[in-house]
Amino acid sequence: MQSKFDYNALLNEYNGYKQQELKLDMSRGKPAENQLDTAERILTVIQTNADCFSRDGIDCRNYGNLTGIPEVRELFSNILGVSPDEVIAGGNSSLNLMYDTVARAMSHGVKKGSKPWSKYDKISFLCPVPGYDRHFAICEYNNINMINVPMIAEGPDMDVVEMYIKNDDTIKGIWCVPKYSNPTGITYSDETVMRFANLKPKADDFRVFWDNAYALHDINDKADKLLNVLEAAKKVGNEDLFYIFTSTSKISYAGAGIAALACSKNNINAVLEGLKVQTIGYDKINQLRHCRMFPTFESVLEQMQKHLKIVKPKFVAVLEAFEKNLSGVEDINWTNPNGGYFISLNLPNGTAKRVVQLAKEAGVTLTPAGATYPYGVDPEDRNIRVAPTYPSLAELNKALPIMCCCAKLAIAEKQIR
Ligand SMILES: Cc1ncc(COP(=O)(O)O)c(C=O)c1O
Repeated sequence: MQSKFDYNALLNEYNGYKQQELKLDMSRGKPAENQLDTAERILTVIQTNADCFSRDGIDCRNYGNLTGIPEVRELFSNILGVSPDEVIAGGNSSLNLMYDTVARAMSHGVKKGSKPWSKYDKISFLCPVPGYDRHFAICEYNNINMINVPMIAEGPDMDVVEMYIKNDDTIKGIWCVPKYSNPTGITYSDETVMRFANLKPKADDFRVFWDNAYALHDINDKADKLLNVLEAAKKVGNEDLFYIFTSTSKISYAGAGIAALACSKNNINAVLEGLKVQTIGYDKINQLRHCRMFPTFESVLEQMQKHLKIVKPKFVAVLEAFEKNLSGVEDINWTNPNGGYFISLNLPNGTAKRVVQLAKEAGVTLTPAGATYPYGVDPEDRNIRVAPTYPSLAELNKALPIMCCCAKLAIAEKQIR
């Protein structure tokens, strides 16, 4: 275990990097340009009026079909392992569907006759941490209190989750990224999924927000397998607890793909009550484009292989740099996921913010420290979400030694204080 550093040597190294005046961005989990290029065919699969009809004759240029054209519902049914009539295919963003689902619950409750969440004095969501900043932002914006739940190797600590949900009817929801979680890369174990499926919430209007954004996003041949939570929940009559989300943002185009919400028939009907007021129908031309580009589930899997080939070397570069520069350093560890878009780096307590600041001053933008926690506050100031996909491999290879130098320098600064 290395616990002592040579402050002056690290400062020299750091100043050398600073002089290079680099501008490198490792802050967001976005696909790189060449990943987006792999979906080029989507731009030309519809060219004429005659191309604009779904397989059963829906004119996709016109209003209607709020739940999505049949072939796109089928596409998502294959991605999520649900039946097509349990899918609402939406617009360009699953985050938007999540926001709308929370907003509808706030204003109208989760089903006909149930109390709007906004009418309670206080409601809370459980937030497995570290987690996805934009989930937390939805809660914060809607004045929903957030309670941290630790992520362990099998997913959220279910003892804590069950304790809250069983006993406290002010808990109305929980955010979950069950596969290749953002940012830990953890996939929930079968036992964790079964415990979710069997939850017995005290609140009768509690819901699980199951954001399966990375359902197909393997980076290794050794892919994780996620148990089907809706199927398991149905066996115990618990299917109404779940809203499942996904999108093609990291399959086709980020922000110009198709998003989907999958849930029980009861929930579909309850959601449609509000959705039919929100919109006459989503962009069916884009739905059709996606179905033409991906006529079979196999064609989606082929597309994911193209992403894998681009993304994997970047994850390898990060892991190798951490191994080379940070292994054996006391209180530093990182995740080594089989998929997703992130590596989660844990540093010694009280150093993450400083590392991000040092890196920024040396021209490397990292995700702000704290972003992976509700209210932007990492109580131990130790977690940094590393997003390897967007920079090129050459840029990454420049940025990583700087990031590792900043980590060691921040520790050395504390030691000399
Ligand atoms: C867990 C998770 N959910 C949702 C999103 C955004 O999805 P969309 O583009 O469908 O809104 C992201 C993007 O990084 C994410 O990491």
